Amino acid sequence: MSIYQDREQTEAKHFILRKYLQTLAFKALHGGWNLAYIDGFSGPWQSRTIDHSDSSFMIALEVLRDAQAKVRRVGKRPRIKCFFSEENRDSYAQLQAAVAPLHDPANSFFIETFNGKFENAISSIQKAMEGSFALTFIDPTGWTGYEFDKVKSIFEHAPGEVLLNFMFDFVNRFTASSDAKILASFDGILGPGWQQRFDQSLRREEALMKLFREQFGRAGAFSHVLCTPIEKISDRTHFYIVYGTRSAEGLAVYRDVEHAALRDHDMRRAFAREAIREHKTGQSDMFGLEGAASFAEMSADAQFASIKLQAKYWLREQLPKCPKPFSEIWPPMLDRFMVRKTDAKDICVDLGKAGEIKETWRQNGSRRRKPDDADQIERA
Ligand SMILES: C[S@@+](CC[C@H](N)C(=O)[O-])C[C@H]1O[C@@H](n2cnc3c(N)ncnc32)[C@H](O)[C@@H]1O
Repeated sequence: MSIYQDREQTEAKHFILRKYLQTLAFKALHGGWNLAYIDGFSGPWQSRTIDHSDSSFMIALEVLRDAQAKVRRVGKRPRIKCFFSEENRDSYAQLQAAVAPLHDPANSFFIETFNGKFENAISSIQKAMEGSFALTFIDPTGWTGYEFDKVKSIFEHAPGEVLLNFMFDFVNRFTASSDAKILASFDGILGPGWQQRFDQSLRREEALMKLFREQFGRAGAFSHVLCTPIEKISDRTHFYIVYGTRSAEGLAVYRDVEHAALRDHDMRRAFAREAIREHKTGQSDMFGLEGAASFAEMSADAQFASIKLQAKYWLREQLPKCPKPFSEIWPPMLDRFMVRKTDAKDICVDLGKAGEIKETWRQNGSRRRKPDDADQIERA
């Protein structure tokens, strides 16, 4: 039996964490940064392996140790600090026993653990983050324990990014409760008076995600907030991996990882709603119930192709505001649509071939087939 049998969501979550951290660690360490990795809700939780290799903390440690060893081979000596907090006493004991042997100060690999609530570790975490690029991973079992006003300083750390598991099903169910105490427990993530700020023109799921994205983005002053829907097909429970960054480069890497996760894990059905945001061209009724339903039936590749087409329509609408370098085209495109930087290039190539934009990347005898950041995108 696979260690992820009946835990497809966990598998998808771990896939995104592993792949994203691999690329981030490689880039940051090669770029001369020290790295801090924070896991606020570490577990272990429903782990099926003796060495906890199917737990987020072990996955991260494996990736970070490997990345550090690789850059050491080229003569760099970066410092890596990991901070794991876990409230449950028994889980903490297991966590502590599993990670202690990997604490390796002589090689600048530090592991700190904390038995208690994430929110009570803030000042220790801030210390661990000092002078480092930080990735914070938040994976709670519900919607409490990361109230934004309490953890804001962690989110705001620069340079830094946050990956968060948003338990959509729970939140969706309990925000519809009539119990005042339960409703008030959402103030910490949706902001006081959230009921009045629900966008009534949207369907409930979209309105909820919009509200959460805004609050999350504000807490970390993020310039990009991406939400990847992960749905367990068997019982239709789903959650979102929410990613916040202030870096266009991070945005590009995350879209690559997300694409691989959704394609390889066949977690595509839920992503209709989030795939295309705030773009109603009238050329598609994807936002209507019928559109969303038929979209959900498509293969992952057909879905990606359809999103790419929407992104192309969007770029066409931007052309009157051009010329602009490609570096100012792809970040807003990736922010709005579930497409990768390579897709943004393909879209430009298509528009170039169709004679709608100038093939500036081929001018002056250049043999480049696709635009780079500095190439101007402008109407032909
Ligand atoms: C979903 S599990 C984490 C799973 C783990 N990230 C993984 O992917 O392998 C959430 C963990 O957070 C712990 N927890 C719950 N509330 C917490 C809090 N306020 N602070 C720290 N840990 C908490 C729980 O005991 C549980 O072990």
